[in-house]
Amino acid sequence: MNILAISGSLRIGSTNTSLLRAAAELVPPTVIITLYEGLDDIPPFSPERDRDNSSEPVNKLRTLLREADAVLICTPEYIHGMPGMLKNMLDWIASSGEFVDKPVGVISAGPSDMGGSRAHASLSYTLEVLTAQLPEGASLIVPFVRQKLDADGHIIDPVLTQQLRDTVGALVEAVHNRSQTL
Ligand SMILES: Cc1cc2nc3c(=O)[nH]c(=O)nc-3n(C[C@H](O)[C@H](O)[C@H](O)COP(=O)(O)O)c2cc1C
Repeated sequence: MNILAISGSLRIGSTNTSLLRAAAELVPPTVIITLYEGLDDIPPFSPERDRDNSSEPVNKLRTLLREADAVLICTPEYIHGMPGMLKNMLDWIASSGEFVDKPVGVISAGPSDMGGSRAHASLSYTLEVLTAQLPEGASLIVPFVRQKLDADGHIIDPVLTQQLRDTVGALVEAVHNRSQTL
């Protein structure tokens, strides 16, 4: 099973990217979580560009999404919403439809007690509009994230480790259930 992990943060020391790296270590060997590294290369969306000839990074993103059994997104909150780069990426997918029926796990993490909950809500809503499948349990809000990671981005909070394991587990189960009904 292939899960494409997408971080909403481009920051080198991103706590959200660290959580995705940690998630990749928590799954059984039959599940491969691959971190998407191309968000920085996705150009600003415009419908004309989409119609004429989408760029190579966009085509690659669409292929990766098509080939993924599920997607796991972990995002910070910027100005009470998801970061613009993440929304821009989703705008490119509106016409091509790779999120239709795709199981998607949604995680937000932030330094405050809110844990990026408003970004979590706006991302979840956008994914619902794209008709992604948002499995119950494959959703997590991580408050006070900086206190739960060490300087190298490793999780030092066992409760968070278990929450992350449960979240990814729910996503994996949704993929299994989906393949049984197809
Ligand atoms: C432009 C900008 C806007 C932000 N807006 C919010 C916000 O509305 N709510 C919040 O909780 N944190 C906000 N933050 C703080 C980020 O959520 C925080 O820095 C987070 O840890 C970044 O995630 P990262 O470590 O994955 O890069 C903002 C940060 C930036 C740079």
